[in-house]
Amino acid sequence: MEFSATAFLIGVALAVGAVVLHYLKGTPWTPSEDLSGEVLERRAETVPETDFPEPMNRSIGGGGAVAVGGGEAGGELAEGEEGEGSEGDGATASGPGDIPEDEIEYYEVEWVKEGETIEVANNEPLLDQGEEQGWDLPYACREGSCVSCGARVDGDANDLVEHDNQQMLDENEMSDGYVLTCVAYPRGEFSIETNETP
Ligand code: FES
Repeated sequence: MEFSATAFLIGVALAVGAVVLHYLKGTPWTPSEDLSGEVLERRAETVPETDFPEPMNRSIGGGGAVAVGGGEAGGELAEGEEGEGSEGDGATASGPGDIPEDEIEYYEVEWVKEGETIEVANNEPLLDQGEEQGWDLPYACREGSCVSCGARVDGDANDLVEHDNQQMLDENEMSDGYVLTCVAYPRGEFSIETNETP
């Protein structure tokens, strides 16, 4: 009998404990501080301004002065104005090779050392068109800033080719027929001797 009384008391104690625990309030959960705004602001500062107006800006008259992330409006406005200025510079620069498909012209060019006459298009550098024939033509920079690809045409190169930003030949050398084939676009018929420099 004594045993069952002890068991009863333990049972009551456990029940009371469970009830007390049930009604006890735990530590309330509190959300950590919201940093998302600050993070977005910092990210916005690291993203460079674009030089072109965003579609959203265009709808309000162009300019590109969208206040990204709030503060420092003065700086952003200044950059926006700059963007507007560069927009005014017009379309992307076009070179002598930017010729519409339906306006491409072909010229007969005699490649003296290669022993062939081929038709060359006016929208592609002479070097590229020679290489397309499988010829091993000299070159180095392929951007008009050395003379490795130099060649000589039988006339005034100022009339017979158009150079795309060559930086090595002067007017007299071109009058003598020298060209840089990597950036020379044909503008007439001629014969050309490759591997010739002034
Ligand atoms: S390869 Fe250098 S100028 Fe043509």
